[in-house]
Amino acid sequence: MKVKTYMDCFFDECVVSDSLVTIRKYILENRSAYLIVVDRTGAYIGLLSSLDVITDLSGAAHVSDIYEAVTPVDENMDIRKIKDGGLDIIPVINEKRFPVGVLRLKNILPALKHFGDLDSGSKKMYRKNLSAKYTIDNLIGSSAAMNRLKETIIRAATIRSTVLILGETGVGKELVAQSIANLSNRRFKPFVRINCAAIPENLLESELFGYEEGAYTGAGKGGNIGKFELADGGTMFMDEIGDMQMIMQSKILRVLQEGEIERVGGRYPIAVDVRVIAATHNDLEKRVEEGLFRRDLFYRLNVIPIIVPPLREHIEDMEELVLYYLEGFSKAMGIARFGVEPEAIEYLRSYHWPGNIRELKNTVERLTVMTGGQITLNSVRSILDLQEGSLDEENSLKSNSEMAERETIQKYLKRYKGNKNRVADELGVSRSTLYNKLKKYQIK
Ligand SMILES: Nc1ncnc2c1ncn2[C@@H]1O[C@H](COP(=O)(O)OP(=O)(O)OP(=O)(O)O)[C@@H](O)[C@H]1O
Ligand SMILES: [Mg+2]
Repeated sequence: MKVKTYMDCFFDECVVSDSLVTIRKYILENRSAYLIVVDRTGAYIGLLSSLDVITDLSGAAHVSDIYEAVTPVDENMDIRKIKDGGLDIIPVINEKRFPVGVLRLKNILPALKHFGDLDSGSKKMYRKNLSAKYTIDNLIGSSAAMNRLKETIIRAATIRSTVLILGETGVGKELVAQSIANLSNRRFKPFVRINCAAIPENLLESELFGYEEGAYTGAGKGGNIGKFELADGGTMFMDEIGDMQMIMQSKILRVLQEGEIERVGGRYPIAVDVRVIAATHNDLEKRVEEGLFRRDLFYRLNVIPIIVPPLREHIEDMEELVLYYLEGFSKAMGIARFGVEPEAIEYLRSYHWPGNIRELKNTVERLTVMTGGQITLNSVRSILDLQEGSLDEENSLKSNSEMAERETIQKYLKRYKGNKNRVADELGVSRSTLYNKLKKYQIK
């Protein structure tokens, strides 16, 4: 049986076999020192030493026996040690302890460098990005609007249909997407997120669909798997879908309709089973009218529309939200006693929150720092009214949110060491938006 797998993208010759006999034969004949454990997508998880196994192996009835018998090797171990062992064949098993292939070392050596990258990169990806961390419990608020939202999330989680999440910036679209994935029967399968606006147009196709070796100038050796294949069996969160160019829109439509993708430079389509959750802060219907978004894709995505309300439409949740974040930030800062004056809540309610819950969260963080955990009306005033006097009210509110925005951008730039792609991605804005804002706020 020959199946094209992720490993094929990284190794020139991967003998894919699900036959235990074959694998065992290779281990015995070639005295391989290590088993490479990969997950279902082929992403590297760790190494297992098979030195001890070799002698016992003849008696092993199942791969699980082999697995039981080996001592896990330190996962940070340098994979080049395989070479030092003087071996030239490495069997590969997956995380289900099932053999998925055998690698020939002579072909691996050039790829080892690549594999080294994969080692840290994909492990991180596997642990961090390939699962949804938020659940419905992270959605704070018990207003009628929030309860309706939670009901919709639960309903959306029970079916496979495509979800389209709409709402202003900072309302919690990402939280909603993750909550749906985490409630669905795909929760133990990959959750792959892609920000359609943050990836340069010319890279988006290969990001999403992967590419074959030699697909284009500069295409990595061995090709690469795309996000859709990575998400197979699970959920794909396509954020900022409204910013996607028309050409890519057609390709996404095809995936949704046919359930298959084609790698860039690929010769055959690959079937994928991916549930798509899309989100945008754009008015998609307007973009359809303007001819910027394909009508057919809009309908295809809009099977379950979820509109996340702006904060000003569920301002009743203010107290709950403030207390939630005040407690969180206080604990993080080691503040034991924290509280908030009722008048302060009132004042926070009167503001119109253009940046919604994200802006509120940033504001509460600043208030917690400023007041040491005791939020007073005055402290709220001094933050929300900061520039008042010189500007009219509307402008004052605007510059307030601008200040919060500026601070957020600076904080993220620091956190991600100036990596603008990452910052744009984390903030959920397009790169061009980020660059415009950097210019606007004169951030270096
Ligand atoms: N109901 C909620 N309860 C608690 N926190 C929330 C809620 N909604 C949003 N948040 C928080 O607000 C911040 C912004 O949320 P999120 O990133 O989901 O917004 P978004 O709608 O995707 O915004 P954008 O359009 O700018 O990408 C996050 O830190 C999130 O945890
Ligand atoms: Mg977002």
